[in-house]
Amino acid sequence: MSTSTTSAARSAASTRSRAWPVTDRGQTATRLLASSAKKSYDPAVDVDWAAEVPDDLYGLSPEWSSLYGTSLWDRMTHQQRVTLTKHEVASISGAGIWFEMILMQMLVRDMYGRDATEPHFQFALTEIADECRHSVMFARGAAAFGCPSYRPQRLVLELGRGFAATATGAVAYGGTLFVEELLDVMQRDFMKDERVQPISRTISKIHVLEEARHIRFAREEIVRRVQDITPLQRARVRAVLAATALTVVESLVHPDVYAAAGLDVREARRAVRNNQHYHAQLRHGASRTLSFLDDVGLVGGPSRVLLQRAHLV
Ligand SMILES: [Fe+2]
Ligand SMILES: [Fe+2]
Repeated sequence: MSTSTTSAARSAASTRSRAWPVTDRGQTATRLLASSAKKSYDPAVDVDWAAEVPDDLYGLSPEWSSLYGTSLWDRMTHQQRVTLTKHEVASISGAGIWFEMILMQMLVRDMYGRDATEPHFQFALTEIADECRHSVMFARGAAAFGCPSYRPQRLVLELGRGFAATATGAVAYGGTLFVEELLDVMQRDFMKDERVQPISRTISKIHVLEEARHIRFAREEIVRRVQDITPLQRARVRAVLAATALTVVESLVHPDVYAAAGLDVREARRAVRNNQHYHAQLRHGASRTLSFLDDVGLVGGPSRVLLQRAHLV
């Protein structure tokens, strides 16, 4: 990229970033605390865990299946599709638990030693409490479908351990926003889809409602934390965020889900790699986050290559 293009891009980024004003941290947190006092769920009692799991309903909206739109999907029986989507939603939930456990650690570190009377501190702790309940809810949802505890591959788990222990500022909240908004887009489809299991729909409804507050919190925090970063720091944040997005996308669907549906894992993974429909779904799921991150100057440069590899741009 030429110097003039680089500076044009930088000035465009700084012009765009002004579209997102820096808000008052205390005011936002006070509003979010009031909202969570008014409407929060306890999945232990608000989900009917004893309800029957119908044989013929999907685990998630079939259009979100990693195989939907492939010739392999066309050859599968309805029962195989049901089994696959139950395992896929369990795997996505497992990735959700993984990232929520990372987020809880980042929030605890971010709030450590701060003034506990601040609404901002109190909302961060409220968010941690939400994520605790969500992770238990996701775990019980997977168990209700008879699925195992799907987790990312060993290397990704270890990378996540490092990320949880070190990520701060725009990296921490940017990574969080990416995962929360991707799940939000999917779960808005699941919650209103009558072809989907009641348990998946209720879990999705609870998660969408409570995550709306987290998304607001993360977005405003990102705007605050990119204000004074240097170009070098910005380049680093872009690279780490793009790598996080790629890792998350690649960890959503565990390869074992295909074996669970009686498929050849290699053939299924090859079909997923070439599945234009699935890539378009992922792009759609990430588009809101990426356009926001672009507005605040956190997309661009070499990090785009990683986003392309994740099929997000
Ligand atoms: Fe959550
Ligand atoms: Fe969240």
